[in-house]
Amino acid sequence: MKGIILAGGYGTRLHPLTRITNKHLLPVYDKPMIYHAIEQLAGAGIDRIMVVTGGNHAGEFLQLLGNGSAFGLRHLDYAYQERAGGIAEALGLAEHFAAGDPVAVLLGDNIFEYSVAPVLKRFRERPVGARLVLAEVDNPSAYGVPEFDGDRVVRIVEKPAVPASRYAVTGLYLYAADVFEVVKTLVPSGRGELEITDVNNHYIKRGEVAIERIRGYWADCGESIELLLKASVMVAERGANKPVE
Ligand code: G1P
Repeated sequence: MKGIILAGGYGTRLHPLTRITNKHLLPVYDKPMIYHAIEQLAGAGIDRIMVVTGGNHAGEFLQLLGNGSAFGLRHLDYAYQERAGGIAEALGLAEHFAAGDPVAVLLGDNIFEYSVAPVLKRFRERPVGARLVLAEVDNPSAYGVPEFDGDRVVRIVEKPAVPASRYAVTGLYLYAADVFEVVKTLVPSGRGELEITDVNNHYIKRGEVAIERIRGYWADCGESIELLLKASVMVAERGANKPVE
């Protein structure tokens, strides 16, 4: 399985902090945000990662991360998203890198208390369709929100005004190699972007989605300055990417 970390975007919700840098280079406690994402995937046994970045400050990633050897990676690849085309479009840029392997896609602004290695292990055992991870949150309207029928997720709605549950779909997406074919079928949403939620709904319709709930805290640091600060406090007090016993 290969790793893809999405680290583009303009980070407008974090203005003015992101006027002169990329969101994923901002500190979360004692490290640049993107370190936590790379360490998360490396700690789950992934040794080839592609960072997809974009916007104005993309060059900084090379200087910061180099070839990934400091993280124990075999190699770190890079891709550049030339416009604000959405998370799914950014994912599509990694098709040649994935080269037919299943992928662990991680949004570079997502911080997890525990290692997601067990989630990847479950997917590796049967790398079909998609595996998604849910977290209970106070403000589901800011995220992709699952709608349930009993225990089953029947669809995901992106940033619903009236959320159908208290859950957010976190930014860890495990996909079979056919995800790149799914991306090619997408049409831009109302905000002109290819939505990762549409990819996930595609797999739900095919009955090929496995869902699990996150253990420990989870934060999307790109959501607000408050969450960015809170994530730093959580990492300082409780750590991040801790191995699961
Ligand atoms: C993205 C996804 C959303 C998901 C969230 C998790 O939203 O579109 O479905 O719940 O990441 O971090 P964004 O934070 O890019 O607005």
